[in-house]
Amino acid sequence: MSLGKILIVDDDANLLELIKMRLESADYEVTAAREEDNAVVELKAGNFDLCIVDLMLANRDGITLMEEFRAVNPEVPTIILTAHGSIQNAVEAMRRGAYSYLTKPFEPGDLLLQIERALENRKLNSEIKRLKGLLHEQFDFANIIARSAKMRSVLDVVMRIARLDSTVHIHGESGTGKELIAKAIHLASDRKDKPFIALNCAALPETLLESELFGHEKGAFTGAVKSTRGLFTQAHGGTLFLDEIGDMPLSTQSKLLRVLQERQFYPVGSEIPIEVDVRVIAATNKDLEELVKKGTFRDDLFYRIHVIPIYLPPLRDHKEDIVPLVEHFLKKCSQQMKKDVKGITPEALRKLMLHDWPGNVRELENTIEYSVAMTQKEFVTEEYILQGKISFSDGAQTGVNDKQTASDDALRPLKDARDAFERDYLVQVLSMTDGNVSQAAKLAGKYRADFYDLLKKHDLKADDFKKTKSAASASS
Ligand SMILES: Nc1ncnc2c1ncn2[C@@H]1O[C@H](COP(=O)(O)OP(=O)(O)OP(=O)(O)O)[C@@H](O)[C@H]1O
Ligand SMILES: [Mg+2]
Repeated sequence: MSLGKILIVDDDANLLELIKMRLESADYEVTAAREEDNAVVELKAGNFDLCIVDLMLANRDGITLMEEFRAVNPEVPTIILTAHGSIQNAVEAMRRGAYSYLTKPFEPGDLLLQIERALENRKLNSEIKRLKGLLHEQFDFANIIARSAKMRSVLDVVMRIARLDSTVHIHGESGTGKELIAKAIHLASDRKDKPFIALNCAALPETLLESELFGHEKGAFTGAVKSTRGLFTQAHGGTLFLDEIGDMPLSTQSKLLRVLQERQFYPVGSEIPIEVDVRVIAATNKDLEELVKKGTFRDDLFYRIHVIPIYLPPLRDHKEDIVPLVEHFLKKCSQQMKKDVKGITPEALRKLMLHDWPGNVRELENTIEYSVAMTQKEFVTEEYILQGKISFSDGAQTGVNDKQTASDDALRPLKDARDAFERDYLVQVLSMTDGNVSQAAKLAGKYRADFYDLLKKHDLKADDFKKTKSAASASS
């Protein structure tokens, strides 16, 4: 795995070879070109991240070549190498778009530093571009933390399916962000100016649930003193979010099925059908397929709902997001509570990393809120971390979590346990070093190459731990 692809152009063959060797040993992938025309061909063919160009080439000056490069790919930064005493030219090169320059002879460390900065800068630019693109789509991702590959691919699906009218089924454990994602889908769709209406299907008894959803005529049942419009009518043109759909009684399920098939329904006690244009997003923290097998959920409704499935992973499976989530919640809570909490100590972070998070992001949010409320200092210490988690650890949360905890407590094969520990450990050191592999490897007492092998084994990318990756911190 290389840190980036670099093209170097110089007509001094020895220097070229020397720089190539140095950069390769620093984990870059390097193409060296002596003849300028060849270099432009190379640049077009390869997907380079950076160019290094000598100012004084045999046939023409490096600035012209740099400009040709920029015409091919304006995103790729160029570092100019100049001979001693030609600062004037170097300044001219910067004016015409070079990222920076180095005067020969230079220290290898200086070159590496410039390269690192140029690449970091490039990443930042493309991140800004990406965020601007999102703004262009009129959608605000800033409140959704997604640094991990898992969460980024969730957002990727969200962006792609937002504009469709197909039913979405969001499933995942309690507190994983199902409602947040449902709202995000609505806001990224053309329905965003119409209502987003949420209903928790587990909260109401059967008859009330039906009249909530479909409305009722006056006198349809005892207590129906006047007719009401149901949520389907209120959500017309917009999105209806049906939370905990697994708890919907069977009779309501068949009514819902009819709306999804025919786009119309009858209010309770009425014989006049009402037509609606509503996108349905359903969510559940239960295993719907299991409920279908047990016979408490209709299979035809399952297939109607499970058109676009979105799975939200439990927090313990994307611990890469803990650090940006903590930063996000710290900022939010200290603003709300008018406190000046600046961060969190490494020990406290360590505790967060080791925790298993049965309550997922909500549990993390509560933990941070509690510790911000309690702390008298500028930094949250481990003292208050996971003090207020009683409601999660006693299994009072949901049936699903009970099951989860039980199976987690069961003995796993040694290899699985060791792999899980190893992954958590890597996530922890990378989080503590903001994705700096050299530092992380040092902390872990590993050689860089071996450390990279470990990252590969666990499908982790050091880049995912760099601060610029998080939407929230890049936009603030
Ligand atoms: N990726 C995220 N970035 C920022 N905040 C998040 C993220 N995921 C969840 N949250 C926050 O965590 C809390 C819980 O999220 P949400 O209510 O959407 O979860 P849920 O899956 O609907 O939970 P439940 O199953 O208990 O209803 C909310 O305050 C939400 O804003
Ligand atoms: Mg919810």
